[in-house]
Amino acid sequence: MTDPQIVLTERVQQALGAAFGAEYTDADPLIRPSQFADYQANVAMSLSKRLRRAPREVAQEIADHLADFPGTVEVSGPGFLNITLSDEWITTQAGEALADPRAGVAVADSPQIVVIDYSAPNAAKEMHVGHLRTTIVGDALARVHEHLGNRVIRQNHLGDWGTPFGMLIEHLLDIGEEAAVAQLEAGEGNAYYQAARVKFDSDPEFNRRARTRVVTLQAEEPETMRLWHIFMNATVRYFNKVYTQLGVTLTDDDIAGESMYNPVLAQVCDELQERGIAVVSDGALCVFPPGFTGREGQPLPFMIRKSDGGYGYATTDMATIRYRVQDLKADRLLYVIGATQAQHMSMLFASAKMAGWLPDHVHAEHVQIGSVLGSDGKMFKTRSGASVKLLDLLDEAEVRAAEVIRDSDYPEEERRAIAHAVGMGAVKYADLSVSHDSEYVFDFDRMLALTGNTGPYLQYAQARIRSIFRKGGVDPAEATGPIVITHPAERALALRLLGFGAVVAEMAETSAPHKLASYLFETASAFTTFFENCPVLKNDVDPAVRASRLALCALTLRVLDTGLELLGVPVPERM
Ligand code: ARG
Repeated sequence: MTDPQIVLTERVQQALGAAFGAEYTDADPLIRPSQFADYQANVAMSLSKRLRRAPREVAQEIADHLADFPGTVEVSGPGFLNITLSDEWITTQAGEALADPRAGVAVADSPQIVVIDYSAPNAAKEMHVGHLRTTIVGDALARVHEHLGNRVIRQNHLGDWGTPFGMLIEHLLDIGEEAAVAQLEAGEGNAYYQAARVKFDSDPEFNRRARTRVVTLQAEEPETMRLWHIFMNATVRYFNKVYTQLGVTLTDDDIAGESMYNPVLAQVCDELQERGIAVVSDGALCVFPPGFTGREGQPLPFMIRKSDGGYGYATTDMATIRYRVQDLKADRLLYVIGATQAQHMSMLFASAKMAGWLPDHVHAEHVQIGSVLGSDGKMFKTRSGASVKLLDLLDEAEVRAAEVIRDSDYPEEERRAIAHAVGMGAVKYADLSVSHDSEYVFDFDRMLALTGNTGPYLQYAQARIRSIFRKGGVDPAEATGPIVITHPAERALALRLLGFGAVVAEMAETSAPHKLASYLFETASAFTTFFENCPVLKNDVDPAVRASRLALCALTLRVLDTGLELLGVPVPERM
């Protein structure tokens, strides 16, 4: 591990042990970036109370016990340890990272099975921009876990079952298979749903047919299933267009929709009832997980069977946990789902724990996705107030991206490829660069800006490095250094590059793509400062310095490329 903060944490912990006894080796040395040095350790202040000694004295004692230390340490102020790493340590570590095709990202010692539930649009309604965000965040998490050597099982929990499908199938019969398929493939799911709904509400005969159809669907009667498949296949073809456009890794093999669990729902309920985990309350079968109460303090039910005998979202989700833990053997479960479902998710996890379906060694987590808002601060819609058709939105992103790169004289085909990469990169990065649980305002101008923490800024940074290599006639793979430090901007860039492995691990650990995004942004900014101050290809640059700077460019390129790949943000060759 090359990350300076981690290396320093270990060394200071050893010093703590040597100075004050073994019980101090797991104290957090509180290593933080510093204004006056590379880092500072703040641990002396907090330890001074425990040790009943002056903080400066404690700090000095730690400094005296630092062995095999890769830099210099100074006690300063009330008891800070200011740490400056040696140039030699930095360049050696950077050289190692450069020789490592993974750029310092370690492979997991014991790979885990990580089941990731994401995307999950509803077939009975249009896929909306909220699903876009769970798709993009979930896909980044899937990519990063795979890169770390974990086994990822993607689960696209489509809303593909339930009472609305009675009327959706009857509507399909009314308008004819061909027309229905054409409409669904085009992403007109909402209009389709609404047309069916109008008839359901106003036409008693249609209403009766739809209800009968729900019964034959529940029974999985062959002709009904044939029609259901026609409906679903057309709908999934539309979802796949969106996934392809975005470069999302989900395939048809990852579909594990609500319908998949239909055959086991009765058994889920029976088992929970027999074991006394679920009880009948007002005719409905409910789990009452501890700690959930309503406004008047009454226990809140997690309803797994309605009083009319029907199953719901809660029933299916109990089945998802049982399946993912018992059959898929998950070590970790990620549910990448809207923050508005927080209560459902915590009741689900608590109920599954009661049932013994979520043992302690399995880590389950709701990765909460914040809402995407329009400029009016309400849920994102078009100007006319209708919901936005996703493919249209993505098309618009590409058209606007083409304007950003308007001045170039690239061949038409390449221009289109760049506009695609920049447009999709901008939309995806906007979802990834803010903390996944916060709301944000969807704004094309901001996400397509070439400055600031945006996708295009990072794409531009990597394209610029590529162009340095093109101009110099050098293959990045051949830029092997050695790295030397002749300017503070080189040092700052190298130091930053050493943190890549740790931030990738942290993103996976905390399910937080924005941490990797911020790191890449800071790295690109450090590169910009380096490039403004340190000429690489100019004639008067000493050959050894040029070789070192090319090596820094190559390592930066690898870090940016790998990082953007892990986020699922495409990288154009030129921009
Ligand atoms: N289809 C649901 C929705 O659109 C999301 C499903 C998420 N996954 C789950 N296991 N509940 O809100």
